Amino acid sequence: MAKTLRTAVIGAGAISLEHLPFLSTSHRCELAAIVDLSPVSAEIATRKFGGVPYTDVDEMLDRERPDIVHVLTPPHTHGFLVSKSLAAGAHVLCEKPMSPTAEEAEKLLAEAAAAGRHLIENHNYRFNDEVLALREIIDEGRIGAVREVDIRMALPIRDAGSRFADANLPNAIHSMPAGVLHDFITHLSYLMIDLAGVRHFERVIAAMSNHGGGDLFTFDDLDALLISRADVAGPETDETPVHGRIRFSCRTSPDLFSLTVRGADGEASTDIFHPHLDVVIDRPGGPQLTPIVNHLVNGVGLARSGARNFGRKLLQHTPYHGLVRFLDQTYTALGADLEPPVTADDVLSAARLVDAIVAAGTREERS
Ligand SMILES: NC(=O)c1ccc[n+]([C@@H]2O[C@H](COP(=O)([O-])OP(=O)(O)OC[C@H]3O[C@@H](n4cnc5c(N)ncnc54)[C@H](O)[C@@H]3O)[C@@H](O)[C@H]2O)c1
Repeated sequence: MAKTLRTAVIGAGAISLEHLPFLSTSHRCELAAIVDLSPVSAEIATRKFGGVPYTDVDEMLDRERPDIVHVLTPPHTHGFLVSKSLAAGAHVLCEKPMSPTAEEAEKLLAEAAAAGRHLIENHNYRFNDEVLALREIIDEGRIGAVREVDIRMALPIRDAGSRFADANLPNAIHSMPAGVLHDFITHLSYLMIDLAGVRHFERVIAAMSNHGGGDLFTFDDLDALLISRADVAGPETDETPVHGRIRFSCRTSPDLFSLTVRGADGEASTDIFHPHLDVVIDRPGGPQLTPIVNHLVNGVGLARSGARNFGRKLLQHTPYHGLVRFLDQTYTALGADLEPPVTADDVLSAARLVDAIVAAGTREERS
């Protein structure tokens, strides 16, 4: 019989509005408390979603003894809040980026292991419909062995009105090693690891730039090339290198979060912000008809996606829908004392890839 977990949330800001609807309605948990430094934020959140409001994390941990704590505060506060929650005997689900460096992530994961608790970073986009569809195409062998993964994100982070562009009230993310890029780079890295099926890229070449200039942004642009194995030559085997490309830009529009996976026998692509699925594979009719059938099949699919995405807009099925699936699977696993869907190894592998990209990107910038 699955256990109902007693839950506490630390941080009642923007992302809490994506966690709290699940936590206040799921039968897998009981929302015990919401903590925020702002008493008003804590009060408003508890009135809407339930639980007891707190402004003091220690007091909440002491009184409520939660089974699991969601750490939803700005990144520079994650480390000490995760440590406190683990020390109080709770599992922790922490927003990304959990830590500024892989070394810090490793330290927190060691604390969790020593306490016999799970420490889980939010890898929500892995659980979006379209990412799961790509995963299924790969797992079914429809595009053959994965050889290249291309992940691109474009967001107007420097435009007036962006939460990152206010010089009078600088967003805390600016203090992270990759500056604002740190807000996105965890997503780009865990998706790369998942889709490429590669935990460690031997070669990482990256350029991080501040194309827009000024002092507020350390970087606003990322271009990274990843190669899984540097030293393999010869016929195709499981060891054949996989290439990855990660790109972030704020100088193109419209907003974009595209994923393309190229295999030995075909390719599949989607966009998390504008969901659709394109699959280019061998089709019945031989090499002459294959491109035409691919166009027809994908054309019909694109038209259907247009209609489906209109329906999703009406139903407010946002790009955060994967977060709800991730939370549901996590609570199901923890309630049954099973391994959660984002493992310690997933968290550490993503943190190490982020580290490698940042190290390569800043090396390039210094030279
Ligand atoms: N997974 C995603 O797709 C996604 C999307 C957006 C944000 N995030 C992440 O979520 C985290 C929070 O982002 P946000 O946009 O909600 O920030 P926010 O600034 O809107 O909210 C943060 C809240 O935490 C509170 N807070 C800060 N320090 C605290 C402390 N020591 N104790 C208690 N409360 C404290 C603040 O008062 C504020 O209400 C960040 O790590 C961000 O990168 C993730």
